[in-house]
Amino acid sequence: MKDQAQSLRQLVSEKAMIPSQASSKKLGKVITVSSGKGGVGKSNFTLNFALALKSMGKKVLIFDADIGMANIDVLMGVSSRFNLYHLLHREKSIEEVIQYGPEGLPYIAGGSGIVDMLSLSEDDLNYFVAQMESMAAEMDYIIFDTGAGISKQNMKFITSADQCLVVTTPEPTSITDAYALIKVVHGSHPEVKFDLVINRAGDEKEAAQAADKIILTAHRFLDLDIKMLGYVSDDPYVVKSVKRQVPFSIAYPKCEAARDVQRLALRYLAVPAAREPGSHSGIKGFMHRWLKRT
Ligand SMILES: Nc1ncnc2c1ncn2[C@@H]1O[C@H](COP(=O)(O)OP(=O)(O)OP(=O)(O)O)[C@@H](O)[C@H]1O
Ligand SMILES: [Mg+2]
Repeated sequence: MKDQAQSLRQLVSEKAMIPSQASSKKLGKVITVSSGKGGVGKSNFTLNFALALKSMGKKVLIFDADIGMANIDVLMGVSSRFNLYHLLHREKSIEEVIQYGPEGLPYIAGGSGIVDMLSLSEDDLNYFVAQMESMAAEMDYIIFDTGAGISKQNMKFITSADQCLVVTTPEPTSITDAYALIKVVHGSHPEVKFDLVINRAGDEKEAAQAADKIILTAHRFLDLDIKMLGYVSDDPYVVKSVKRQVPFSIAYPKCEAARDVQRLALRYLAVPAAREPGSHSGIKGFMHRWLKRT
């Protein structure tokens, strides 16, 4: 009998991977990875999820949209000379600000540019949009790792993207803050789609229980359907990999967390989220919504 991962893998290769490899037209789907509380594992998840999608034949770019620390750089053990700031001020082209991490994973560091993104002149904006669109034409997924909480920037990233993956641990404070984030975003932008990722779960049951708290509350009080995309185990190899500055799916590919992210990515590709008919999607839609909110 086939196990679940095997069946999913087959489904992905039949339904998702072949069309994308066969055609040059890329999806360019924009995803944010967000959380209510800080330090719940967004950056580690973003990086290893991106690597998992990449290992399945997808083209993925990470955009570090955390205004504070350059999280992704540190986790990959590299440092960026140029970042979004240089792109926004037309000092560098998008090719020059894209850095390459392990396995050739492309990423853009936001740096101080994230603040500037909120108040661009029209010329700078036009340049930025054109550069982003040329890059996005090559990508299946663009994943923004945002900071925690409900800042003005985070709101804009979340409400402009095609999908928001909300990361929480099973801790009550993390769950409450994740729900608060969803509630605030949903209050002003009911069209935003959320999926839950439970990180640092003791086991599958604990993950499902944590997810249910948010899913049931959102259903009852917000009339909002949220799904659990999957979970990542609490795994000491994650901490070891952070110390080594090598993503855990590369440093310890057989560790529990790496297997969980792999499974989650397979599931993600097997069940493509439904698109609202007629709505803008991909980077064009993202930029369109971003500009509407400027
Ligand atoms: N699955 C896991 N198992 C064990 N420890 C983990 C796991 N995920 C994250 N951690 C621990 O949590 C720390 C914070 O993770 P990470 O930097 O990814 O969080 P974050 O949500 O991006 O934080 P911030 O809000 O500051 O950006 C890691 O350095 C690691 O020690
Ligand atoms: Mg982070």
